[in-house]
Amino acid sequence: MKLLITGGAGFIGSHVVRLFVTKYPEYQIYNLDALTYAGNLANLSDIEHLPNYTFIKGDITDAKFLEDMFAELELDGVIHLAAESHVDRSITDPMSFVMTNVVGTVNLLNAAKNSWASSASGFEGKRFYHVSTDEVFGSLHNPEDFFTEETAYDPQSPYSASKAASDHFVRAYGNTYKLPVVLSNCSNNYGPNHFPEKLIPLMIHNIQTSKPLPVYGKGENVRDWLFVVDHARAIDAVFHKGKEGETYNIGGFNEWKNIDIVNLLCQIMDRKLGRPEGTSAQLITYVTDRAGHDLRYAIDAHKIMNELGWEPSLQFEEGLEKTVDWFLSNQTWLDNVTSGAYQSYYQGMYTNR
Ligand code: NAD
Ligand code: TYD
Repeated sequence: MKLLITGGAGFIGSHVVRLFVTKYPEYQIYNLDALTYAGNLANLSDIEHLPNYTFIKGDITDAKFLEDMFAELELDGVIHLAAESHVDRSITDPMSFVMTNVVGTVNLLNAAKNSWASSASGFEGKRFYHVSTDEVFGSLHNPEDFFTEETAYDPQSPYSASKAASDHFVRAYGNTYKLPVVLSNCSNNYGPNHFPEKLIPLMIHNIQTSKPLPVYGKGENVRDWLFVVDHARAIDAVFHKGKEGETYNIGGFNEWKNIDIVNLLCQIMDRKLGRPEGTSAQLITYVTDRAGHDLRYAIDAHKIMNELGWEPSLQFEEGLEKTVDWFLSNQTWLDNVTSGAYQSYYQGMYTNR
Protein backbone atom coordinates (compact mmCIF):
# COMPACT_ATOMS: atom_id res chain seq x y z
CA MET A 1 0.00 0.00 0.00
CA LYS A 2 1.34 3.42 -1.02
CA LEU A 3 -0.58 5.87 1.11
CA LEU A 4 -0.63 9.67 0.98
CA ILE A 5 -1.51 11.45 4.23
CA THR A 6 -2.03 15.20 3.78
CA GLY A 7 -1.52 17.63 6.67
CA GLY A 8 0.66 15.12 8.51
CA ALA A 9 2.82 17.82 10.13
CA GLY A 10 -0.21 19.29 11.90
CA PHE A 11 -1.87 18.33 15.16
CA ILE A 12 -4.11 15.38 14.22
CA GLY A 13 -2.17 14.46 11.08
CA SER A 14 1.03 13.86 13.08
CA HIS A 15 -0.76 11.30 15.26
CA VAL A 16 -2.25 9.62 12.18
CA VAL A 17 1.15 9.45 10.47
CA ARG A 18 2.80 8.02 13.60
CA LEU A 19 0.08 5.37 14.00
CA PHE A 20 0.19 4.26 10.36
CA VAL A 21 4.00 4.31 10.01
CA THR A 22 4.50 2.20 13.16
CA LYS A 23 1.45 -0.09 12.89
CA TYR A 24 1.85 -0.84 9.18
CA PRO A 25 5.59 -1.14 8.44
CA GLU A 26 4.65 -2.79 5.13
CA TYR A 27 2.95 0.46 3.96
CA GLN A 28 4.88 3.26 2.28
CA ILE A 29 3.58 6.45 3.92
CA TYR A 30 3.98 9.84 2.22
CA ASN A 31 3.25 12.88 4.36
CA LEU A 32 2.33 15.85 2.15
CA ASP A 33 2.29 19.17 4.00
CA ALA A 34 2.81 22.82 3.03
CA LEU A 35 4.22 23.61 6.51
CA THR A 36 1.97 26.59 7.13
CA TYR A 37 2.09 28.17 10.60
CA ALA A 38 0.26 25.01 11.82
CA GLY A 39 2.73 22.50 10.36
CA ASN A 40 5.64 21.46 12.55
CA LEU A 41 7.97 18.61 11.60
CA ALA A 42 9.13 18.38 15.21
CA ASN A 43 5.76 16.63 15.76
CA LEU A 44 7.25 13.66 13.87
CA SER A 45 10.88 13.76 15.01
CA ASP A 46 10.56 10.32 16.67
CA ILE A 47 9.50 8.52 13.47
CA GLU A 48 11.06 10.57 10.65
CA HIS A 49 13.99 8.13 10.34
CA LEU A 50 11.77 5.11 9.64
CA PRO A 51 12.27 3.61 6.15
CA ASN A 52 8.55 3.53 5.28
CA TYR A 53 8.12 7.29 5.91
CA THR A 54 8.71 10.12 3.43
CA PHE A 55 7.97 13.80 3.91
CA ILE A 56 6.96 15.86 0.88
CA LYS A 57 6.68 19.63 1.16
CA GLY A 58 3.89 20.78 -1.12
CA ASP A 59 0.72 22.80 -1.33
CA ILE A 60 -2.64 21.25 -2.22
CA THR A 61 -3.72 24.51 -3.88
CA ASP A 62 -1.16 23.69 -6.61
CA ALA A 63 -3.01 21.38 -9.03
CA LYS A 64 -0.03 20.76 -11.34
CA PHE A 65 2.18 19.78 -8.41
CA LEU A 66 -0.43 17.26 -7.25
CA GLU A 67 -0.87 15.82 -10.74
CA ASP A 68 2.91 15.28 -11.09
CA MET A 69 3.16 13.79 -7.60
CA PHE A 70 0.33 11.29 -8.23
CA ALA A 71 1.91 10.28 -11.56
CA GLU A 72 5.27 9.68 -9.89
CA LEU A 73 4.16 7.91 -6.70
CA GLU A 74 1.40 5.60 -8.02
CA LEU A 75 -0.58 5.90 -4.80
CA ASP A 76 -3.26 3.46 -3.63
CA GLY A 77 -4.87 5.61 -0.97
CA VAL A 78 -5.28 9.11 0.37
CA ILE A 79 -6.14 10.23 3.89
CA HIS A 80 -6.80 13.94 3.55
CA LEU A 81 -6.36 16.08 6.65
CA ALA A 82 -4.58 19.19 5.31
CA ALA A 83 -6.72 22.21 6.08
CA GLU A 84 -6.92 25.61 7.62
CA SER A 85 -8.45 24.57 10.94
CA HIS A 86 -8.97 27.51 13.28
CA VAL A 87 -12.41 29.16 13.44
CA ASP A 88 -11.08 32.54 14.69
CA ARG A 89 -8.66 32.76 11.74
CA SER A 90 -11.52 31.92 9.36
CA ILE A 91 -13.42 34.95 10.65
CA THR A 92 -10.55 37.33 9.84
CA ASP A 93 -9.33 35.60 6.65
CA PRO A 94 -12.05 33.42 5.05
CA MET A 95 -10.39 33.25 1.62
CA SER A 96 -7.43 31.17 2.78
CA PHE A 97 -10.01 28.65 4.04
CA VAL A 98 -11.71 28.60 0.64
CA MET A 99 -8.35 28.12 -1.08
CA THR A 100 -7.00 25.26 1.03
CA ASN A 101 -10.16 23.56 2.26
CA VAL A 102 -12.30 23.84 -0.87
CA VAL A 103 -10.00 24.41 -3.86
CA GLY A 104 -7.22 22.27 -2.33
CA THR A 105 -9.61 19.38 -1.69
CA VAL A 106 -11.02 19.53 -5.23
CA ASN A 107 -7.46 19.61 -6.62
CA LEU A 108 -6.67 16.48 -4.62
CA LEU A 109 -9.88 14.76 -5.77
CA ASN A 110 -9.01 15.55 -9.40
CA ALA A 111 -5.45 14.32 -9.05
CA ALA A 112 -6.59 11.05 -7.44
CA LYS A 113 -9.42 10.50 -9.93
CA ASN A 114 -7.31 11.21 -13.02
CA SER A 115 -4.31 9.19 -11.91
CA TRP A 116 -6.36 6.22 -10.69
CA ALA A 117 -8.70 6.22 -13.71
CA SER A 118 -5.72 5.89 -16.04
CA SER A 119 -3.99 3.15 -14.01
CA ALA A 120 -4.19 -0.52 -15.03
CA SER A 121 -6.45 -1.45 -12.09
CA GLY A 122 -8.60 1.71 -12.31
CA PHE A 123 -10.39 2.50 -9.02
CA GLU A 124 -10.03 -1.13 -7.81
CA GLY A 125 -8.31 -1.24 -4.40
CA LYS A 126 -8.13 2.56 -4.18
CA ARG A 127 -9.58 4.75 -1.41
CA PHE A 128 -9.95 8.52 -0.87
CA TYR A 129 -10.71 9.35 2.76
CA HIS A 130 -11.72 12.87 3.78
CA VAL A 131 -11.27 13.74 7.46
CA SER A 132 -13.85 16.33 8.46
CA THR A 133 -15.46 18.01 11.44
CA ASP A 134 -18.76 17.96 13.32
CA GLU A 135 -18.88 21.75 12.87
CA VAL A 136 -20.49 21.22 9.43
CA PHE A 137 -23.74 20.38 11.27
CA GLY A 138 -23.99 23.82 12.87
CA SER A 139 -25.06 24.43 16.45
CA LEU A 140 -27.34 22.32 18.70
CA HIS A 141 -29.89 24.16 20.84
CA ASN A 142 -32.06 21.34 22.25
CA PRO A 143 -30.15 19.53 25.05
CA GLU A 144 -31.47 16.12 23.90
CA ASP A 145 -30.15 16.48 20.34
CA PHE A 146 -26.99 14.92 18.93
CA PHE A 147 -25.37 15.09 15.49
CA THR A 148 -25.94 11.82 13.63
CA GLU A 149 -24.77 10.89 10.14
CA GLU A 150 -28.26 11.94 8.92
CA THR A 151 -28.18 15.44 10.45
CA ALA A 152 -28.53 18.10 7.73
CA TYR A 153 -25.51 20.33 7.13
CA ASP A 154 -25.93 23.84 8.57
CA PRO A 155 -22.44 25.38 8.82
CA GLN A 156 -22.26 28.69 10.67
CA SER A 157 -18.62 29.86 10.46
CA PRO A 158 -16.41 30.40 7.41
CA TYR A 159 -14.33 27.42 8.63
CA SER A 160 -17.29 25.06 8.88
CA ALA A 161 -18.72 26.38 5.59
CA SER A 162 -15.42 25.53 3.86
CA LYS A 163 -15.33 22.04 5.41
CA ALA A 164 -18.98 21.47 4.47
CA ALA A 165 -18.20 22.47 0.87
CA SER A 166 -15.25 20.07 0.76
CA ASP A 167 -17.39 17.23 2.19
CA HIS A 168 -19.98 17.89 -0.54
CA PHE A 169 -17.30 17.77 -3.23
CA VAL A 170 -15.95 14.46 -1.90
CA ARG A 171 -19.45 12.92 -1.98
CA ALA A 172 -20.10 14.43 -5.42
CA TYR A 173 -16.94 12.75 -6.78
CA GLY A 174 -18.12 9.47 -5.25
CA ASN A 175 -21.52 9.82 -6.90
CA THR A 176 -20.52 11.30 -10.25
CA TYR A 177 -17.22 9.60 -11.05
CA LYS A 178 -17.60 6.57 -8.71
CA LEU A 179 -14.39 7.58 -6.95
CA PRO A 180 -14.16 5.25 -3.91
CA VAL A 181 -14.58 7.74 -1.08
CA VAL A 182 -15.22 7.54 2.64
CA LEU A 183 -15.65 10.38 5.16
CA SER A 184 -15.70 11.02 8.88
CA ASN A 185 -16.86 13.97 10.96
CA CYS A 186 -15.18 14.25 14.35
CA SER A 187 -15.72 16.38 17.44
CA ASN A 188 -13.06 18.63 19.08
CA ASN A 189 -9.70 16.93 19.61
CA TYR A 190 -7.13 17.62 22.33
CA GLY A 191 -3.73 16.18 23.24
CA PRO A 192 0.00 16.43 22.47
CA ASN A 193 1.12 18.64 19.53
CA HIS A 194 -2.04 20.79 19.75
CA PHE A 195 -1.23 24.27 18.43
CA PRO A 196 -1.54 26.82 21.27
CA GLU A 197 -4.14 28.96 19.50
CA LYS A 198 -6.88 26.45 20.37
CA LEU A 199 -8.69 26.48 23.73
CA ILE A 200 -6.92 23.74 25.73
CA PRO A 201 -3.26 24.33 24.77
CA LEU A 202 -3.75 28.12 24.90
CA MET A 203 -5.07 27.86 28.45
CA ILE A 204 -2.24 25.51 29.50
CA HIS A 205 0.35 27.92 28.10
CA ASN A 206 -1.27 31.01 29.64
CA ILE A 207 -1.65 29.36 33.06
CA GLN A 208 2.00 28.35 32.94
CA THR A 209 3.10 31.90 32.10
CA SER A 210 0.50 33.57 34.38
CA LYS A 211 -1.21 35.38 31.50
CA PRO A 212 -4.98 36.13 31.35
CA LEU A 213 -7.19 33.17 30.35
CA PRO A 214 -9.54 34.58 27.68
CA VAL A 215 -12.96 32.92 27.95
CA TYR A 216 -15.27 33.97 25.13
CA GLY A 217 -18.71 35.26 26.16
CA LYS A 218 -19.95 33.57 29.34
CA GLY A 219 -17.98 30.35 28.80
CA GLU A 220 -21.27 28.44 28.44
CA ASN A 221 -20.55 27.02 24.98
CA VAL A 222 -20.32 23.25 24.91
CA ARG A 223 -17.85 21.12 22.96
CA ASP A 224 -17.53 17.32 22.81
CA TRP A 225 -13.85 16.45 23.41
CA LEU A 226 -11.89 13.45 22.16
CA PHE A 227 -8.24 12.54 22.84
CA VAL A 228 -6.35 12.91 19.56
CA VAL A 229 -4.87 9.39 19.65
CA ASP A 230 -8.42 8.00 19.84
CA HIS A 231 -9.27 10.02 16.72
CA ALA A 232 -6.22 8.55 14.97
CA ARG A 233 -7.41 5.04 15.97
CA ALA A 234 -10.86 5.86 14.57
CA ILE A 235 -9.29 7.05 11.30
CA ASP A 236 -7.44 3.73 11.08
CA ALA A 237 -10.77 1.89 11.55
CA VAL A 238 -12.62 3.98 8.96
CA PHE A 239 -9.81 3.78 6.40
CA HIS A 240 -9.53 -0.01 6.66
CA LYS A 241 -13.07 -1.10 7.54
CA GLY A 242 -15.42 1.76 6.59
CA LYS A 243 -17.90 1.07 3.77
CA GLU A 244 -17.31 2.87 0.48
CA GLY A 245 -19.41 6.03 0.15
CA GLU A 246 -20.29 6.10 3.85
CA THR A 247 -19.75 8.71 6.54
CA TYR A 248 -18.86 7.99 10.17
CA ASN A 249 -19.32 10.40 13.08
CA ILE A 250 -16.51 10.22 15.64
CA GLY A 251 -16.82 11.49 19.20
CA GLY A 252 -16.32 10.56 22.82
CA PHE A 253 -19.79 11.27 24.33
CA ASN A 254 -17.87 13.82 26.38
CA GLU A 255 -19.56 17.22 26.53
CA TRP A 256 -18.01 20.05 28.52
CA LYS A 257 -18.79 23.74 28.94
CA ASN A 258 -15.69 25.82 28.15
CA ILE A 259 -15.61 27.43 31.59
CA ASP A 260 -15.67 24.02 33.29
CA ILE A 261 -12.66 22.89 31.24
CA VAL A 262 -10.77 26.08 32.07
CA ASN A 263 -11.49 25.61 35.78
CA LEU A 264 -10.42 21.96 35.64
CA LEU A 265 -7.18 22.93 33.88
CA CYS A 266 -6.54 25.60 36.54
CA GLN A 267 -6.91 22.95 39.28
CA ILE A 268 -4.64 20.44 37.50
CA MET A 269 -1.99 23.08 36.78
CA ASP A 270 -2.03 24.50 40.33
CA ARG A 271 -1.37 20.97 41.62
CA LYS A 272 1.37 20.20 39.05
CA LEU A 273 3.11 23.58 39.40
CA GLY A 274 2.90 23.51 43.21
CA ARG A 275 0.81 26.69 43.34
CA PRO A 276 -1.78 27.27 46.10
CA GLU A 277 -5.25 26.05 45.06
CA GLY A 278 -7.23 28.81 43.31
CA THR A 279 -4.16 30.71 42.03
CA SER A 280 -4.65 30.04 38.30
CA ALA A 281 -8.44 30.55 38.35
CA GLN A 282 -7.79 34.20 39.22
CA LEU A 283 -6.39 34.57 35.67
CA ILE A 284 -9.80 33.80 34.09
CA THR A 285 -10.91 36.79 32.03
CA TYR A 286 -14.24 36.94 30.22
CA VAL A 287 -13.74 38.57 26.82
CA THR A 288 -15.95 39.60 23.90
CA ASP A 289 -17.66 36.58 22.40
CA ARG A 290 -16.58 35.07 19.08
CA ALA A 291 -18.79 36.34 16.21
CA GLY A 292 -21.48 33.76 15.41
CA HIS A 293 -20.21 31.47 18.21
CA ASP A 294 -21.84 28.00 17.92
CA LEU A 295 -23.50 27.09 21.23
CA ARG A 296 -23.14 23.33 21.41
CA TYR A 297 -21.65 20.41 19.50
CA ALA A 298 -22.38 16.81 20.49
CA ILE A 299 -21.72 13.69 18.42
CA ASP A 300 -23.73 10.48 18.37
CA ALA A 301 -20.91 7.98 17.72
CA HIS A 302 -23.00 4.80 17.77
CA LYS A 303 -22.47 4.00 14.08
CA ILE A 304 -18.66 3.74 14.23
CA MET A 305 -18.86 1.96 17.60
CA ASN A 306 -21.42 -0.63 16.44
CA GLU A 307 -20.25 -1.15 12.85
CA LEU A 308 -16.48 -0.76 13.11
CA GLY A 309 -15.93 -1.76 16.75
CA TRP A 310 -14.13 1.48 17.63
CA GLU A 311 -14.44 3.11 21.03
CA PRO A 312 -12.52 5.83 22.88
CA SER A 313 -9.76 4.47 25.13
CA LEU A 314 -9.36 7.41 27.53
CA GLN A 315 -11.63 9.22 29.98
CA PHE A 316 -11.43 13.01 29.66
CA GLU A 317 -9.86 13.68 33.08
CA GLU A 318 -7.15 11.10 32.33
CA GLY A 319 -6.57 12.52 28.84
CA LEU A 320 -6.35 16.05 30.18
CA GLU A 321 -3.76 15.01 32.80
CA LYS A 322 -1.74 13.30 30.05
CA THR A 323 -2.00 16.41 27.89
CA VAL A 324 -0.86 18.76 30.66
CA ASP A 325 2.04 16.38 31.45
CA TRP A 326 3.02 16.37 27.77
CA PHE A 327 3.08 20.17 27.54
CA LEU A 328 5.02 20.51 30.80
CA SER A 329 7.63 17.98 29.73
CA ASN A 330 7.92 19.33 26.18
CA GLN A 331 8.78 22.90 27.00
CA THR A 332 11.12 23.17 24.00
CA TRP A 333 8.30 22.26 21.62
CA LEU A 334 6.11 24.97 23.14
CA ASP A 335 8.92 27.55 23.26
CA ASN A 336 9.77 26.91 19.60
CA VAL A 337 6.12 27.24 18.59
CA THR A 338 5.44 30.39 20.59
CA SER A 339 8.70 32.04 19.42
CA GLY A 340 8.21 30.98 15.80
CA ALA A 341 11.56 29.11 15.81
CA TYR A 342 9.86 25.90 14.67
CA GLN A 343 9.35 27.38 11.21
CA SER A 344 13.05 27.56 10.44
CA TYR A 345 14.25 24.72 12.65
CA TYR A 346 13.81 21.97 10.09
CA GLN A 347 14.80 23.89 6.98
CA GLY A 348 17.25 21.87 4.95
CA MET A 349 16.04 18.53 6.33
CA TYR A 350 13.74 17.92 3.40
CA THR A 351 13.88 18.47 -0.33
CA ASN A 352 11.42 20.90 -1.83
CA ARG A 353 9.67 19.25 -4.74
P1 NAD B 1 -3.83 21.72 11.97
O1 NAD B 1 -4.15 23.14 11.65
O2 NAD B 1 -3.11 21.42 13.24
O3 NAD B 1 -2.95 21.08 10.79
C1 NAD B 1 -3.24 21.28 9.45
C2 NAD B 1 -2.03 20.86 8.64
O4 NAD B 1 -2.36 21.08 7.24
C3 NAD B 1 -0.76 21.66 8.94
O5 NAD B 1 0.34 20.80 9.09
C4 NAD B 1 -0.60 22.56 7.73
O6 NAD B 1 0.76 22.87 7.43
C5 NAD B 1 -1.23 21.72 6.63
N1 NAD B 1 -1.74 22.55 5.52
C6 NAD B 1 -2.50 23.68 5.62
N2 NAD B 1 -2.73 24.19 4.39
C7 NAD B 1 -2.13 23.36 3.51
C8 NAD B 1 -2.02 23.34 2.10
N3 NAD B 1 -2.58 24.32 1.34
N4 NAD B 1 -1.35 22.34 1.51
C9 NAD B 1 -0.77 21.35 2.25
N5 NAD B 1 -0.83 21.33 3.60
C10 NAD B 1 -1.50 22.32 4.22
O7 NAD B 1 -5.21 20.95 11.88
P2 NAD B 1 -5.76 19.73 12.75
O8 NAD B 1 -6.41 20.28 13.96
O9 NAD B 1 -4.70 18.70 12.87
O10 NAD B 1 -6.91 19.20 11.79
C11 NAD B 1 -6.61 18.25 10.76
C12 NAD B 1 -7.90 17.94 10.01
O11 NAD B 1 -8.87 17.41 10.90
C13 NAD B 1 -8.55 19.16 9.36
O12 NAD B 1 -9.05 18.78 8.11
C14 NAD B 1 -9.67 19.54 10.32
O13 NAD B 1 -10.73 20.17 9.62
C15 NAD B 1 -10.06 18.17 10.84
N6 NAD B 1 -10.64 18.17 12.20
C16 NAD B 1 -10.00 18.82 13.23
C17 NAD B 1 -10.55 18.75 14.52
C18 NAD B 1 -9.86 19.39 15.70
O14 NAD B 1 -10.41 19.39 16.82
N7 NAD B 1 -8.67 19.95 15.56
C19 NAD B 1 -11.73 18.03 14.75
C20 NAD B 1 -12.35 17.37 13.66
C21 NAD B 1 -11.78 17.45 12.40
P1 TYD C 1 -11.37 26.13 19.69
O1 TYD C 1 -10.33 25.38 20.42
O2 TYD C 1 -10.97 27.31 18.86
O3 TYD C 1 -12.18 25.06 18.81
P2 TYD C 1 -13.58 25.24 17.97
O4 TYD C 1 -13.87 26.68 17.82
O5 TYD C 1 -13.24 24.58 16.67
O6 TYD C 1 -14.61 24.50 18.77
O7 TYD C 1 -12.45 26.63 20.74
C1 TYD C 1 -13.13 25.73 21.60
C2 TYD C 1 -14.14 26.54 22.39
O8 TYD C 1 -13.44 27.43 23.26
C3 TYD C 1 -15.03 27.43 21.53
O9 TYD C 1 -16.33 27.46 22.10
C4 TYD C 1 -14.39 28.80 21.62
C5 TYD C 1 -13.78 28.80 23.00
N1 TYD C 1 -12.55 29.59 23.19
C6 TYD C 1 -12.44 30.49 24.26
O10 TYD C 1 -13.38 30.68 25.04
N2 TYD C 1 -11.27 31.18 24.40
C7 TYD C 1 -10.21 31.02 23.54
O11 TYD C 1 -9.16 31.70 23.73
C8 TYD C 1 -10.33 30.07 22.48
C9 TYD C 1 -9.20 29.86 21.51
C10 TYD C 1 -11.52 29.38 22.35
